[in-house]
This record gives sequence, C-alpha cells and structure tokens, in this order.
Amino acid sequence: MQHEQLLIIDFGSQVTKLIARRVRESGVYSEIHPFNKVDEAFLMSFNPKAIILSGGPDSVTGAKSPRADGYVFEMGVPVLGICYGQQTMCLQLGGGVEQSDDKEFGRADLEITAPSQLFAGMAAAGKTERVWMSHGDRVSKIPKGFEVIGKSPNAPYAAIEDAVRQFYGVQFHPEVMHTVNGAVMLKNFTHNIANFKGDWTMAAFKDESIAAIREQVGDGKVICGLSGGVDSSVAAVLIHEAIRDQLTCVYVDTGMMRKGESDQVVSLFREHYNISLIHVDAEDEFLNLLEGITDPERKRKIIGGTFIDIFEREAKKIGGAKYLAQGTLYPDVIESVSFDGGPSVTIKSHHNVGGLPERMDMELVEPLRELFKDEVRALGRELGLHEDFVQRHPFPGPGLAIRCPGAISKDRLDILRDADAVYLDQIKKHGLYNKIWQAFAVLLPVQTVGVMGDGRTYDYVLALRAVTSTDGMTADYYPYSHEFLSETATRIINECRGVNRVVYDVTSKPPGTIEWE
Ligand code: XMP
Repeated sequence: MQHEQLLIIDFGSQVTKLIARRVRESGVYSEIHPFNKVDEAFLMSFNPKAIILSGGPDSVTGAKSPRADGYVFEMGVPVLGICYGQQTMCLQLGGGVEQSDDKEFGRADLEITAPSQLFAGMAAAGKTERVWMSHGDRVSKIPKGFEVIGKSPNAPYAAIEDAVRQFYGVQFHPEVMHTVNGAVMLKNFTHNIANFKGDWTMAAFKDESIAAIREQVGDGKVICGLSGGVDSSVAAVLIHEAIRDQLTCVYVDTGMMRKGESDQVVSLFREHYNISLIHVDAEDEFLNLLEGITDPERKRKIIGGTFIDIFEREAKKIGGAKYLAQGTLYPDVIESVSFDGGPSVTIKSHHNVGGLPERMDMELVEPLRELFKDEVRALGRELGLHEDFVQRHPFPGPGLAIRCPGAISKDRLDILRDADAVYLDQIKKHGLYNKIWQAFAVLLPVQTVGVMGDGRTYDYVLALRAVTSTDGMTADYYPYSHEFLSETATRIINECRGVNRVVYDVTSKPPGTIEWE
C-alpha cells in the first residue's frame, strides 16, 4: 500500500479504536498495534510519519506498567501522547507523574495557556475548550524542552509541547465526541504538525485493493459466502471487480432470513452484478436439526456447524477453489491489549465461517481487514452499491433463530418475519432507519389473552428492539415517541396474524445484549 501511515501504540484504553477512526476520517491511514509488539525493528519497517500513544487502564507509577519502546522518541517523527500515553512519554523523557487525590472523570474545561499549532483554529490563549477527562494520575513535572500549553482545574500540565522535537501530550481524550474540538486537534496534529497529505481515500483504497487481490490470487478460483449483510456483499463486489468470473459466491438460505431477503440477495448479485452465485435452499435441513431445541447456545452451535457443512459441500462442487473470501473487518483484527490476561467469559458463540479455511485447506482473501464499518459503507458506495443497501442494519449469522426464543418452527418464523417487516416499514416511513444502529422484532414463546372485535384472542407477544451504538459493544435503547410506538403496535396487531400484544424493550447493553439470545 502506498499511503502515508500513522502508528497508534495501544496501552489498552477502551477508546483506542476511536483514535484510529478519527484520524482516518481526516484522510490519514492509521493502524493500532499493542505496545508490547512495537520494538525498534517494527518501527523501522512500519515507518510511520507520526505516532500516537493511546490511553490505558494502568498507572504509570506501577512497577510493571507498560512503556513505549525508546526508539519511538528517537525516530525523529512527531509523537502525541494521550492520557496514559502523555504520562509514559513524560516519565520516559525525564519528567514526573504523581498519583492525585483529585481525579477527573467526564467533562472538564481546558484553559489554553499558550498558543500552539495543536490548537490552531480552536480557542485562543486565555480561553477555554470543553474536553473529556478520565484520569487519576497526572503529570507533575514536564521533561526538559517541554512547555505547558493548557491546564485544567485538576491537571496543571493538561496539554504540553516540545515544538522543536514535535512531541505533544494531552491529559484529556481528543478522540471522544465529548471533547468538542477533538477532531480539529487531531487533524492539527496530523496535517499541520506531521504534514500528512490526507491520501487515504476510498477511491485510492479500492484501486489498491483490486491490485492486491489480483496479485494474491493470480488465476486461482475464489469462493465467497454471502450473508446478505453489508460486509460480505462489499467484499464480494470488490473481489468481482478484481477477478470477475474467477469468483463464485455461495448464499446459504437457512430459512432464518428476513422477509424478502433471499430474493433481494439473489437479484442484486446475479442480475445486477452478474456474479456467479449458488443459491442453496437449506431451510428444511436447518429446521429439522433445530426442532425442539430451546437452549440459545445449542441453537447457535447447530446453525454455525450446519452452515459450515453445507458451505463446504457446495464449495467442493465448484471444484478447485484455492481461496476463501471473507468480510473480516479491522475491529476483529486489532489485537487489543488485555491486562488481566485471563480468558474472557463466552457470552455468545458467534456464528461465522471460522474454522472453514483450515478444514478445507484454503487460503483467505480478506480485502476489508483494514477497514472500519463506516469505511466499508463508503467503499460500498464507491463500488456503486445502493444507499439503502450500504446503510443496512447488521444482521446476525444465526438470523431469526435467535429472535425466536424457545423452540423454532416455520410457523413462528413466518409470524416473526411478517411482524418484523411491518416494524421496519414503520421505522423507514418515519425517517428513523439511519438514526438507529439496529432494529428488529422478537417473537416471545408466550401467548396472552386479548380481545379483537367481539372475540377472544390467544396469541403471541412480540417485543420490539431498537438501539443506538457505535460498534455493537455497548448500546442504548432508542427513545421512540409514544405516538410512534402505539401506531406501530396497532399496525402489527392489525396486519400480522398470530400477534396480539406488543412490548418495547428499554434495556441498554450492558446489562442486556442487543439480541435476545
Ligand atoms: P449482542 O447480542 O451480543 O450483539 O449484543 C452484538 C452485535 O453482534 C451481532 N451478533 C452477531 N453477528 N454472528 C454475527 O455475525 C452472530 O452470531 C451474532 N450474534 C450477535 C448482533 O446482531 C449485534 O449487532
């Protein structure tokens, strides 16, 4: 890849990914690497034009707390330390850090105390900027060559610079939205201080990827599993641009798809893009295997395993494919630093085609490995995918099976499909679809008594879910108006057989999860 690169050294902050996203939004390609994998040899081969040191959960005053490799400060490139990154930079360059009783969490006012390139276009010296703080420790002595450029009530060295060596440190987090001019500040660092040209565009990425795919696969055959979701679709269209009919897509219809979804996938790929597509109707096979199964983890395992069996069977029929394409994204690739070291609890076994490449002895083609979700959407637009398609909400691999708690049957899935379609139609009609990360209906295994006309009904309860989120890791429920909720409930009960009661889920994640199973 030809573009200029910025390196983010990760010390384990929850928001490190946001640094990469903000930096990329201004056209600068950035990668995150854990501090313990960055040594002199790595730095020389990565050859960053600038470096950002992230925040982290540790205290730099701790005996075994992490440090940046010393070569970071000898490379002659601009360095910006954020929070923990600022503190370790100060300590490593001869300054001091102390534990403070006056912790600062949340919004704070930063007083700009001296003009700096870092604050170009922001408040003038003597004025304040709203920033977001999250620290216990603070810098107590700045290293030789540094000057203070900003302070906050509890951090006398909240922003510092060594303009000669181009080292900058901030105690607050410019990468989070609550730092009002955070994006401006990061752009000042990348464009004004480090002189990045901003050459990271989706048009350039597309051309580079096409060349890289051709180089990787030569005249080999590639197969790609389509789920109907944005990631696998964008990957398939991109690979198709690169190698045309060397690509075959496989779409396994599990019978757990949403209303009309299979037809949309088939017509988009086969008719619109003229991509060779195998459409496997495996509804009966999945429903038979899932009959009577109520445990969410068993459902997930059965669906994941069966999907892989079918995919393998179909792929073998194509014959001779050496490569398997996947829509893996950057957040799955980033090796986050884990400080507790212990294995984390499995909340849900995610359904994906992991394990397939080894089983089938295939090499992976993963053209989206460097991209965030919003970048995949931008790439989709660049490839001519329709706006409605690139903005689609995420849909889980196990599909409606995990939105039908209890035993699954074709009848219950059909009721859910209809109700879900009415719900999504309502959201789109009210112009809310793009304000919501994910919205869907859940058919509960509970029947309640109702009255319609003069008659008694005894039908299912439908729960509606809608959340806002940036990455699916945490989420808040979407605050619909009462009018919207009551209109939607009325429409669902009037238009859909089998449902006589609608409820709205107002649980955040955590403690809930987005899906119900
Ligand atoms: P949860 O329910 O864990 O979901 O809060 C977080 C996000 O992941 C999606 N999800 C899945 N995606 N395979 C997927 O590809 C899965 O097995 C799976 N389970 C959940 C979920 O829809 C949400 O966007």
